[in-house]
Amino acid sequence: MIVTLDGPAGAGKSSAARALAARLGWWYMDTGAMYRAVALAALDRGVPLTDGGLLATLAESLTIEFRDGRVLVDGHDVSETIRTEWVTVATRPVADEPRVREVMKHLQRRLAAGRDVVTEGRDQGSVVFPGADLKVYLTACAEERARRRHREELARGSTASLADVLAAQNRRDDGDRGRPVGAMRPADDAVLLETDGLSPEEVLDRLVLLVAEHRP
Ligand code: DC
Repeated sequence: MIVTLDGPAGAGKSSAARALAARLGWWYMDTGAMYRAVALAALDRGVPLTDGGLLATLAESLTIEFRDGRVLVDGHDVSETIRTEWVTVATRPVADEPRVREVMKHLQRRLAAGRDVVTEGRDQGSVVFPGADLKVYLTACAEERARRRHREELARGSTASLADVLAAQNRRDDGDRGRPVGAMRPADDAVLLETDGLSPEEVLDRLVLLVAEHRP
């Protein structure tokens, strides 16, 4: 069975997807990490972020794996490096490139084949797995998402203000929604789950119920 979990940054998607996969004993696919991995490889190898053809060739040449909750590229653990700010910024043009998205789509389908999977991203229900048994679009209001991220960033030692975090998030949302291919949007048959005011445990409980209801 395939469950897709899409939605904007900061809606609690990653923790929800991870927790759901752990609860069900299923595989978890973090597709944001895959775009980040391509961006990191491009930075490392000096591939210009403006050259879509080269980026797609690079994406095709990489071996991206998930092992024990870690992300490996060509055998190297990049789990921490892909979360740094410079990689986050470089991921945008990579994720905007339709030829890279095409490579990622096929890779994501290959990785998920024959497995019970919770896959998380922006376009998993709408583009990559249109036939998924359950599609969830997880969201929360912009202020709530920014508050959560701000708390996380403070805990990591950042000094950014809440207003800065909200402004950066709005820019990311606009980019994710406005992308010509693979734009962030709920699939027509997605279940909308608003997480405002819900604890992570409550979100998980709702997801577990939805999975039970949608089992083929
Ligand atoms: O979820 P995240 O922040 O790790 O995603 C990193 C970037 O990749 C972000 O710019 C959105 C983009 N992305 C995408 O375009 N499609 C996906 N399926 C997942 C992520």
